[in-house]
Amino acid sequence: IGHRIECFDEVDSTNNVAKRLAEEGASEGTVVIAKTQSRGRGRRGKPWISPEGGIWMSIILRPEVHPSRALLLTLVTGVAVARTLQDECGLEVGIKWPNDILIGDKKVCGILTEAHVRFNTLEYVVVGIGIDTNVDVKAFPDDLREGATSLKNELKRDIESGALIEKFLENFEDVYNSFKDGEIDEILSEWRKLSKTIGSRVEIRKQLGEIVYGEAVGINSEGALILELDDGTLRKIISGECIHH
Ligand code: BTN
Repeated sequence: IGHRIECFDEVDSTNNVAKRLAEEGASEGTVVIAKTQSRGRGRRGKPWISPEGGIWMSIILRPEVHPSRALLLTLVTGVAVARTLQDECGLEVGIKWPNDILIGDKKVCGILTEAHVRFNTLEYVVVGIGIDTNVDVKAFPDDLREGATSLKNELKRDIESGALIEKFLENFEDVYNSFKDGEIDEILSEWRKLSKTIGSRVEIRKQLGEIVYGEAVGINSEGALILELDDGTLRKIISGECIHH
């Protein structure tokens, strides 16, 4: 991971650039990093604000696994980010299913995993990671400011982005190798320890406006969230926006 790193001052979205490189045949572990993104993308079609000072990067992966395993890569990435922020910054972090890295109840990092499937096989995956490092969330629009934080806002100092990226890539490689070796239980148990979602009452906003309420009781071997609904039945959630109550 990171044997080839492409750095840019500005791109539309590092996930788009990574996709283009992957289509041209770029190998597994190719990394794209940009100082700013003019059209950074979040999940569910939301824009992702990407000013200078943050870490905006994407990794191309070509795991030989079934497409249903792609969700696990989001959890793999979350574990790697969490380890990095804990070890390098001494911060206590949590994860909100499936992909938000939190400090307290504020989001410091988001992950956008895009799987490219052809003929029912996983051709490649682009994992996008956005970490609010040396940015000031006070400059964010009103609706985002409340729920967001940055490493600078937490630590009251600038952090060295290059060193953090290096450590993250090391951690990522480590967790990703476990994933490829089939050590899913180990990864999921680390994820569960970091999870702020399991044990909470949550609201899941699905596409098409459906809303599901329940208590998050676990995740299964695919990384799907298991909810216990008010009538006691269990429901598996593979996508949707998760809100903690
Ligand atoms: C989310 O929480 O909604 C996911 C945010 C993902 C943002 C990162 S920044 C690098 C990469 N390029 C993008 O356009 N998005 C991801």
